[in-house]
Amino acid sequence: RISVIKDDWPGYELDLFSYPAHYCGDLDCVFIPHGVIMDRTERLARNIMDDLGDHDIVVLCVLKGGYRFCVDLVDRIKSLSRNSDRSIPMRVHFIRLKSYLNDQSTEDLHILGAEDLSFLAGKNVLIVEAIVGTGKTMETLLKYVEAFRPKLIKVAGLLVKRVPHNAACLPDYVGFEIPDRFVVGYALDYNEYFRDLTHICVISKSGKMKYKI
Ligand code: HPA
Ligand code: MG
Repeated sequence: RISVIKDDWPGYELDLFSYPAHYCGDLDCVFIPHGVIMDRTERLARNIMDDLGDHDIVVLCVLKGGYRFCVDLVDRIKSLSRNSDRSIPMRVHFIRLKSYLNDQSTEDLHILGAEDLSFLAGKNVLIVEAIVGTGKTMETLLKYVEAFRPKLIKVAGLLVKRVPHNAACLPDYVGFEIPDRFVVGYALDYNEYFRDLTHICVISKSGKMKYKI
């Protein structure tokens, strides 16, 4: 089950919420407010615990975009773990992927910090990603991680985009399915800008121009 945000969802007017003044004019709307992200994350944490809560978990956080989601998701999993008799040890490991320039995916995908993942052997692995578009990145990453022979691999993706050639590969846990629009905030960037925005927002035309490389 996935919570779907429809193509005609206009978002919320920016001035209904607060956001950094330095992004004034760079955004079209608040697409998913921070509080909604948190509430959905809490539920995902429960689903994950129901499935993986019987064994140690190694969390693989995909940087940079995944850092906020990973922190908040791990936090909620820990909280569930603290408050139940099924307490599970968790490790968090960080890898870095880079494939976007401006708002376009590029062919060359770089995986950093993943040279030796042999400690994943026999473990339950939870890959945590902010956004899945074509699914190509996820497919490449899954193949890469599988080679280290974990017991189980699950993927949590906060956002899945409805793109034209949709994903051969979808996350096991999805926060929101969204229209094919470029979104920023909550650690998602446009050329490294907007990570310091708490809500998920749609970037404006002038915002794209202003921060173009
Ligand atoms: N925003 C930020 N980064 C991304 C996106 C997006 O919509 N899609 C893929 N990487
Ligand atoms: Mg990026």
